[in-house]
Amino acid sequence: MEIWFHPAKEIDSAVRRVAAKNGFDESFDPQIRPADPRFGDFQANGVLPLAKAAKTNPRALAQKLADAITSSGEFDTKLVEISVAGAGFINFKLTRHFLTLWLEKFSGENELKKASSRFYNGKRVVIDYPSPNTAKQMHVGHLRPMVIGEAIKRLLKFCGADIICDNHIGDWGTNFGTLIHAIKIEGYVLDPKNENALEELEQLYKKGSALAKEDVKHADAAREELVKLQNGDPENVGLWNKINAVSSDAFNKMYKRMGLSIDITLGESFYRDKVERIYKELTETGIAEESLGALVVFLREHERFKKQPFIIRKSDGASNYASTDLATLIYRVEQLGAQEIVYVTDGRQQDHFQQLFMTAKKWFDAKGYKLPELRHVWFGTILGEDGKAIKTKSGEPVRLRALLDEACARARAVVKEKNPDIPDAEADKIAETVGTASLRYADLAQNRTSDYTFSWDKLLAFDGNTAPYLLYAAARIHSIFRKAGVDPNSDFSSQASPLETDAEISLARKLVALPSVFENTLNELRPHFLCAYLYELSGAFSSFYNADKVLVEDAAARARRFMLCSRTMSVLEVGLRLLGINPLEKM
Ligand code: ARG
Repeated sequence: MEIWFHPAKEIDSAVRRVAAKNGFDESFDPQIRPADPRFGDFQANGVLPLAKAAKTNPRALAQKLADAITSSGEFDTKLVEISVAGAGFINFKLTRHFLTLWLEKFSGENELKKASSRFYNGKRVVIDYPSPNTAKQMHVGHLRPMVIGEAIKRLLKFCGADIICDNHIGDWGTNFGTLIHAIKIEGYVLDPKNENALEELEQLYKKGSALAKEDVKHADAAREELVKLQNGDPENVGLWNKINAVSSDAFNKMYKRMGLSIDITLGESFYRDKVERIYKELTETGIAEESLGALVVFLREHERFKKQPFIIRKSDGASNYASTDLATLIYRVEQLGAQEIVYVTDGRQQDHFQQLFMTAKKWFDAKGYKLPELRHVWFGTILGEDGKAIKTKSGEPVRLRALLDEACARARAVVKEKNPDIPDAEADKIAETVGTASLRYADLAQNRTSDYTFSWDKLLAFDGNTAPYLLYAAARIHSIFRKAGVDPNSDFSSQASPLETDAEISLARKLVALPSVFENTLNELRPHFLCAYLYELSGAFSSFYNADKVLVEDAAARARRFMLCSRTMSVLEVGLRLLGINPLEKM
């Protein structure tokens, strides 16, 4: 038997194989779950419901299956121990021999990555984030799509996806009419080199919409500017290009600071001449119909959407968010080869994506196109202490740049307090990492579908499930190696003896759980599973380090303890990087 990377999955497949050979129904699910650690690593719960349905004794049936597993040769009993327990559970215990060999085999980032790549196995995934709207400064609302999107992208890539990040910016729509009108009446000169250009555009837009509300004359003028833009009027197209250039300069700076790597940026405007096909195909297949002058899709099988249709062409003939998204979807399939598409947005867009996915399914089925897997990864709101969406004192959304600057300033104070002798330049560097990491981690550690309350004290705390705690945990292992004068990347396995103490074994079990954590995180695309795991792993490491001295006389025991230190460090660092956080060697 080889040393499996992902024991839970391998046990599941092996049990299914044995069950099938022993007359169990093909649909039998062994239900492999984590077990009470006193009895084993995993247990199969699936015999109980089966016995109940067949009205036989569950314990006897479990024994029969366990015997068949034992004699099947699928498992080496030196590596996995099998026993029957309770009412009819089968327990699987990874022996300390298995755990030792696992740690020897999956010795660092490269080995972990190679083994993890089997999850996605080269599947082409397009991930859509952070996808902001242009002509606006980035504010606190842009934090979550960046942070969550980047973490998911990195995890998918690590797990073998052939991934493309497509930044679907909102660079087209009625707001440009309003903005261009305001620019013109104010005689504003848009200078791309002006540092405050984006802020000034935002003010102009506000002014323009206020005017349009007050006076139909302005509303009509704004609409005219939009029509001119849509018809290719050179002046308006020139302004629109400049607005987008100013936006993307500012966005790119922020992406860089946040460590985002975007592969392509095809915004809504890119699809404006690709919507005709959508109207045509959805009409000819009978999926879309005219209603009050608009082209709409009634999803009649759905309680709400049968009354609230998906509007794909507005009554004035213009395309909208729905039509460009349908055109985007087919483009990603046909031109980018997408087998899976992941959209990362705010929870308020749930209806839009549900309608998009339902419409796409009908359309693809009708045309015989192959529908990729479609996933909407949505998130809740960041709340202020008052329980409402976080705002500045004057009621404006908090600027992202200001938020990051404050995080770094606060982190610097914390670092200086912990370590008063640290040179300023080093403190600055550490503070930039700790500050952004803290913001990121506080976001990722929450279940993304919940709202959460923003708190500086909590996110910068050195204890609890925070970035400073995890960064410190990884840095501490570096310092253990530094003090011992040992290279953490040495090959400890050739000298190490098999794991022995309880603390060693619990830590090893936590490490071996990594693939299950990846699997769960991938299944739901919820990064907080990974955060919780890293936090638990740090705890298991502390318990081990408190219980067992590393620098002992016995060379074989020393080597295996160094091996545990080194593997924990790798897994913590791999995990942090996947979350978009750069680990530190010193803190
Ligand atoms: N620009 C949109 C917004 O800021 C998000 C776009 C998400 N992607 C998409 N294909 N609809 O809300």
